[in-house]
Amino acid sequence: MKLIKVKDYNELSETAARLVLEKVKANPDIVLGLATGGTPEGMYKRLVEDHRSAGTSYKNVTTFNLDEYAGLSQADPNSYYAYMREHLFDHIDVPKENVHLPDGEKEDLDAECIQYEQLIKEAGNVDLQVLGIGGNGHIGFNEPGTPFDSHTHVVTLDESTREANARYFSSLDEVPTQALTMGIQTIMRAKEIVLLASGKSKAEAVAQLLKEEANENFPASILTTHPNVTVIVDEEATASVKSE
Ligand code: F6R
Repeated sequence: MKLIKVKDYNELSETAARLVLEKVKANPDIVLGLATGGTPEGMYKRLVEDHRSAGTSYKNVTTFNLDEYAGLSQADPNSYYAYMREHLFDHIDVPKENVHLPDGEKEDLDAECIQYEQLIKEAGNVDLQVLGIGGNGHIGFNEPGTPFDSHTHVVTLDESTREANARYFSSLDEVPTQALTMGIQTIMRAKEIVLLASGKSKAEAVAQLLKEEANENFPASILTTHPNVTVIVDEEATASVKSE
């Protein structure tokens, strides 16, 4: 695991955007794995700015998002599809048919998961996967205890995850209890992974990630066994790392 320490959120966003842009320019047909949440917002903002000013094209890029809430339509402002449109897709030239998120509104969610996994495989798997990390070590919505050999599946969200995400909803009650997420194995098939962590709320998780051996109680720990992972952290997120 390669660790890049930066000063603050601004620098984290800048560094992550540069890394993504470098890969997109080197491989215009790249398959990107994308995350939602607060952490990558600054990175997406910079990708949009770059598209406007420098014209980097996403015409041939394919994207697969990590996850989506169950029960929300794509039009729901709290869906991850809406998030991706707002922060990225509506502002760059990626064709609509090239972007993929699991559909949380399908009647048969298990069948949707199987199909999503298949689509990722047919695309040749993800070239560069962007990840955030939950305070409990989740990646995607793979909560502690998720088997490392899991594929895209339906999950029941931890209460801590629902509480952390309640800031986007008008009340905790409105946060869905289930989601569809790429599995740990799906994520690990990505050729390259970049994990972003910013702020005090991630300090414990980052400290654990850096000292932990792979174990299913701390999902992100699997990344220590992947051959090409870059972790970008800011000062606040490394505050609990003991060796410093
Ligand atoms: C989002 C996702 C989650 C988040 C994690 C951190 O698609 O899969 O694992 O990356 O919950 O969220 P933020 O960035 O809001 O702290």
